[in-house]
Amino acid sequence: MRTSKKISDQVTWVGKVDWELEQFHGNEYSVRRGSSYNSYLVRDKKIALIDTVWQPFDSEFIANLKDEIDLQDIDYIIANHGEIDHSGALPELMREIPDTPIYCTNNGKKVLQGHFHKDWNFVTVKTGDTLDLGESQLVFIEAPMLHWPDSMFTYFTGESILFSNDAFGQHYATESLFNDSVDQCELMEEALKYYANILTPFSALVSRKIKEVLALELPVNLICTSHGVIWKENPLQIVQQYLKWADNYQENQITIVYDTMWNATRRMAEAIADGILKEDPTLTVKLLNAAERDKNDIITEIFKSKAILAGSSTINNRYLSAMAALLELVKGMKFKNKKAAAFGSYGWSGEAVKLMTADLEEAGFQIVNDGCRTLWVPDQEGLQSCHQFGREFTQAL
Ligand code: FEO
Repeated sequence: MRTSKKISDQVTWVGKVDWELEQFHGNEYSVRRGSSYNSYLVRDKKIALIDTVWQPFDSEFIANLKDEIDLQDIDYIIANHGEIDHSGALPELMREIPDTPIYCTNNGKKVLQGHFHKDWNFVTVKTGDTLDLGESQLVFIEAPMLHWPDSMFTYFTGESILFSNDAFGQHYATESLFNDSVDQCELMEEALKYYANILTPFSALVSRKIKEVLALELPVNLICTSHGVIWKENPLQIVQQYLKWADNYQENQITIVYDTMWNATRRMAEAIADGILKEDPTLTVKLLNAAERDKNDIITEIFKSKAILAGSSTINNRYLSAMAALLELVKGMKFKNKKAAAFGSYGWSGEAVKLMTADLEEAGFQIVNDGCRTLWVPDQEGLQSCHQFGREFTQAL
């Protein structure tokens, strides 16, 4: 088990790998491969601790930290972000070293005071402010909405290391710590899921901030995130990937997401998929039942898609609750440059398609047409009209 690990001459990882984590942000983010809360000690003539860990691990964190350093030797604490997965051990730590200054943004101070209600020795910083460590400095770069208003990066001049906090992270537990020593498919899958589900709403700001940081032309030997691996091998690869993801990213994919009561809407979905592929066999088409599949995986597939089709049967003049919950989540993602339409079977009133179309439009999708409905269970003729709907939807892309 890793408790601390030297990652360069002057920096030691002192975080926590959480192999058991299954849900993050309450139940908003499903975690399949664990996560980590990365904390770092930076040693020069002065010593700084960058971020801490989630509160359930605070005692473990302090005990491990004491094995690594006399806590009284920590001169500065840097809080890149106040969310409690990184600040949760602060109360325990500040009981030990109560006067140690905490460097954070002005918004960071508000977040930490809002969480912990303590009048600690806060030092608020802005972009370009520096903290002298002796031979080297820490340079602060505000990164608002990457992904909270208080977020910031810290750059260590001594070894050209960017401490990026949540940005470029992944919920991915690993003992090996560095990006070049893990399964690359798993790593990029988790990095993409993290971007799609956490950063998508802020893509415009992500683009602007990355371009601003790249314009500084700072050398970067390591990108030390607050979750998952440290980017060591070609560290800027994840920065370039973020630029792509932030720029209305899409693959040649259509995602059909639906819920169904008695399989009529599922059969419609399959016939529509058949029509799409008949029209354009180069497309990747994915069918996902919203009631059965993980919502974060669905968001990731929508993120990758150029268009989506949302399906539901009608119930009580509305549409099914799994689709309603999903579209509520989708609205918050603020997807751009994607097209959509709705479909569904019904027995009498049949409002689902119209209601989902309105919600897709509210979510920012460009609506391709009025959608496709079938009465009761589609017969061969009904399935043929779904197939034709799939073809026409594809032509309209
Ligand atoms: Fe990993 Fe926004 O906290």
